[in-house]
Amino acid sequence: MAFGPRKMACALAVLVFGLCLGGARAATGRIDDGLEVMWGDGRGSVSPDGQVMTLSLDRTSGSGWRSKNTYLFARVDLQVKLVANNSAGTVTTCYFMSEGEWEIHDEVDLEFLGNVTGQPYTLHTNVFANGTGGKEQQFHLWFDPTTDFHTYSIVWTAQHILVLVDGTPIRETKNHADKGVAYPSSQRMRLYGSLWNADDWATQGGRVKTDWSRAPFVAQYRNFTAADAASEPAGYDQEMDATAQQAMKWARDNYMVYDYCQDGKRFPLGFPPECYMP
Ligand SMILES: *[C@@H]1O[C@H](CO)[C@@H](O)[C@H](O)[C@H]1NC(C)=O
Ligand SMILES: *[C@@H]1O[C@H](CO)[C@@H](O)[C@H](O)[C@H]1NC(C)=O
Ligand SMILES: *[C@@H]1O[C@H](CO)[C@@H](O)[C@H](O)[C@H]1NC(C)=O
Ligand SMILES: *[C@@H]1O[C@H](CO)[C@@H](O)[C@H](O)[C@H]1NC(C)=O
Repeated sequence: MAFGPRKMACALAVLVFGLCLGGARAATGRIDDGLEVMWGDGRGSVSPDGQVMTLSLDRTSGSGWRSKNTYLFARVDLQVKLVANNSAGTVTTCYFMSEGEWEIHDEVDLEFLGNVTGQPYTLHTNVFANGTGGKEQQFHLWFDPTTDFHTYSIVWTAQHILVLVDGTPIRETKNHADKGVAYPSSQRMRLYGSLWNADDWATQGGRVKTDWSRAPFVAQYRNFTAADAASEPAGYDQEMDATAQQAMKWARDNYMVYDYCQDGKRFPLGFPPECYMP
């Protein structure tokens, strides 16, 4: 991995997404101004100073939070520090989901699949629209996500859904509704986070199980910001410029480990239509 170009790509991406879009972000003082513990029977908590939301997982239960607001187009930024050391079998999430009927629900997923000590986390992403998902893309990260907080962002507008890691775009899902591909644009969504056990599938295809002797497992979230992308005069709706495209290409060339649009075994008769749309 070339350090120079990477640093430059990140810096440029921060310029594009941080400066251009940063102006109207509603920064919250306390994380519980924006998020509330939702489940886990005491396993989720906010630090007394309001800066950190902690989720934990033991053999009995995981835990989760949700945003107090719902959104119809938004940019959310959240810093996350993942379960350290042997996190195999654990899944830490941050996702948008609509609240209506499940059969037609919309969803944008970021799921961090744990691993044994020294092996990389997998960031699993997916988009559901009108009840249909199947748009999985997975990434390894270019840093250890357990030693420090890193910023994960979802930019959801009428034009596209962008996923960014520390300001670098890694995935763009464009709105091709005009060509018959369902896109989340009519249902409000809420943001959710959780830490739970999924050792039947999460790590190395389910072969590595959760080591409960290491419980409780802990993940932390801080600095949640949400901006209503629909009310933005400019920025959110624009197409990615050449610099952002280049940054995304770098991330995908080097760190994407699965793309449904390249899984020929899964789609022997041809990929889903959006895979052919620029
Ligand atoms: C992870 O391992 C390191 C080094 O062995 C240790 O210092 C640290 O306390 C461990 N962290 C957790 C959360 O177990
Ligand atoms: C959503 O899916 C349902 C079937 O589950 C279909 O009847 C409807 O037309 C779809 N709506 C859109 C906007 O694609
Ligand atoms: C865990 O590590 C293995 C070996 O490096 C890697 O193939 C896999 O993608 C990693 N992530 C998960 C979730 O299994
Ligand atoms: C909190 O998040 C905002 C928006 O992502 C960012 O500009 C700011 O630097 C973050 N603050 C800290 C202390 O990381």
